[in-house]
Order: sequence, then C-alpha cells, then structure tokens
Amino acid sequence: MNTKVIKITNQEIKENPYLLREAAKIIAEGEVVAFPTETVYGLGANALNEKAVRKIFELKGRPSDNPLIVHLHSKELIKNYAEISNEVEKQIVEDLMPGPLTLILKKKEIISSIVTAGLPTVGIRIPYNPIAQKLIELSGVPISAPSANLSGKPSATEAQTVIEEFAGKIPFVIDGGKTHIGIESTVIMVKEEETKYSILILRPGFITKEDLENFVNENKFSKQVEVIYSENIQQETPLSPGQKYKHYSPKSHVAIIKDFKKAEELIKDFKNEKIGVLGRKNFLKEVKKILTYLGVKNIFELEWCEYDLIDCARNLFFAYRIFDKENVAIILVEYLEEKGLGYSIMNRVKKSSTYFI
Ligand code: TXA
Ligand code: MG
Repeated sequence: MNTKVIKITNQEIKENPYLLREAAKIIAEGEVVAFPTETVYGLGANALNEKAVRKIFELKGRPSDNPLIVHLHSKELIKNYAEISNEVEKQIVEDLMPGPLTLILKKKEIISSIVTAGLPTVGIRIPYNPIAQKLIELSGVPISAPSANLSGKPSATEAQTVIEEFAGKIPFVIDGGKTHIGIESTVIMVKEEETKYSILILRPGFITKEDLENFVNENKFSKQVEVIYSENIQQETPLSPGQKYKHYSPKSHVAIIKDFKKAEELIKDFKNEKIGVLGRKNFLKEVKKILTYLGVKNIFELEWCEYDLIDCARNLFFAYRIFDKENVAIILVEYLEEKGLGYSIMNRVKKSSTYFI
C-alpha cells in the first residue's frame, strides 16, 4: 500500500479546511488515517465501522482487551454515543472540553463492544487541535484513535515516527508538526456514591490532579467531590485496561535516577556501552561527572527541558525516539518530583523503566 503524507499547519487549516477532504473521505470509507492531536498522534478509524476498528488493533498489535477512545469534534455530539449521568460529568464537559482530556462515560448501544473491549463504558475525547477537529468534522463520523505507535512503544509525537512504524500499512498520514503537549490525554471517570462523587484519574496527563481540584473548587455541586488517582485505590480488575501493560518503552533500558550515589553500581554494568542521559542542565552536569569518573567513553546526552515541566512533557517521547536512533544501551533519566505535571511525566517514565534508583 502506498502511504500518502501531507504536511499542514494549524493556520492553513483555519484558512483552507478542505485540505483535509481526502483524508476525511478515507476515514469515512473505513480506512485508517494517522493525524495529529494536541497530545500525541492518533491512528484513526471510523468508530462506527467494526472492520475499520479491527484494523487499528491489528496495525498496532494491540491486545483486544484494551479499549479505544472515541474522538468527536463537538460537545453536542456526545449524547449520540454516551450518557452524561450526573452534574459532575456535565460540568467536566462544559469546562474542560475540548482539551487533552478523555472522559469515560456509560456507552450507548451504537458504540460497538470491539471499540470498548466489552466494557459498558466509552472514553470520549474532543481534541482542540484544529487539524484533528476539522478531520473529525469532515469525516462525518466519530473517530476511534489510539496513539499512533506500535503497542508498547513510546507514543508518536511527530509524523516521522508514524511513518517509520506504519508506512506501507496505512493509506494516509497528516503531518501537522511536532505535537504541543507530547504526552497523552488525562483519562478520568466519575463515580457517584450516596454522599459524594469521586473523580478517578485512570491515566494522569496534561490536565493534572491539581487542575481537577481547582475545577471542583470553582463549581458548586450538591455533594462533596474528591479527586483520586485510581492507582491508589484497590481494584480487583483494573479500571483502565491499558494501564496494566508495559508501555512507552524505547529499545534500550530506562533507569530513573533519584540517587546519584546508588547509580554508580548500575552504571558500572553498562560502562563499555553507549549510555544515554536525559535530564535538565544540573542533572546532566552531575551525571557527566560520575560517568567520566567511572571511565565511560560513549555518552549521548539530551537536555530534557530548558524552561519548565511543560517542555519536559513535550520532549519525553521525542527524546526516547532519538535515543533509539543512537542505539544507546540504557537511558539515565532524571527523577522529577511527582507533583502536578511531574506526576504525569513520571507515570510514563516509570512504565517504560527497568530500574528506579
Ligand atoms: O491523548 C490521547 O488520549 C491519545 C490521542 C490520540 O487522542 N490517544 C490515546 O489512546 O492515548 P490510547 O488508546 O493509546 O490510550 C487510551 C487509554 C488506554 O489506557 C485505555 O485502556 C483507556 O484509555 N480507556 C479507553 N477506553 C476506556 C474505558 N471505557 N474505560 C477505561 N479506560 C479506557
Ligand atoms: Mg497509547
């Protein structure tokens, strides 16, 4: 199969939305198109076409018990596919969508159990990226899309990565440049009990626990609302099937370095190989000292982010892909404090890591 790649900017889409007509037609016809969102690239297909949805699972090598999320271009459409069951869900849609957020809702009949992996719920996301929005709108159907990477690999934050993994296997890739946010959406679910609501964070993301707490404080609800990371509550079956799999892994080992002193032992084991280092300026300086003192010759370092955690999020998977090309044996990654966006970034790094020192 020939893979057509078109390059488009957000500005061009605003001026000439019909540039996406061909891609939208391909989706409507039951084929798969890779497209940018503000978080990561998605591998999209018509969510109402089971055959098309199956193609996504096959292309990614994704376990069939890991549900896909459904992308819409407008809030008004949610009611066609899912039920908004309480005041908190309603307000989340009102205040936080479109955006890097996926809300798990009770699904309606029209959504196939192939999409939801047999669950009675469906994840709904309305991206704010104008290319994604326009593509969904023009295709005239809801689009199910996981991140556009082979299962287990770091998510794709650039079209080039998508092309490397799926060229010849999908008909169309929309290249909208490097994605803004760089880690996937926050996945949440609202649980209503007699005396309170809980907003469960199934996958942390750009919208943080602190953001959700602010959202709660800014609104009036008839019951108390608590925001909880679902990994902190005991569950017999995981609420989010995707979270049980190893994820986001580059080819090499990943070691999270919290304690430089203890890292020496590990580094010695990789002494004669190429070692990658990912961190902020100070971290790079400190690790370099240790590596030099241990006699490591082959070092490849990347400055993770210059300014803030937003930069770190944007560059994480991007950096992993660069380390892959450099064929490093291990990446030493700076530990970031697990607060705010740091929590979400570390969630990804932990899932990809073999060592935490
Ligand atoms: O930012 C994103 O969310 C990107 C872009 C393309 O939109 N998509 C994405 O999809 O990351 P994916 O399939 O890689 O991750 C979706 C996550 C998985 O962990 C999956 O298990 C979970 O959402 N999920 C989907 N439907 C669910 C449901 N009904 N209940 C619980 N978890 C669900
Ligand atoms: Mg994914």
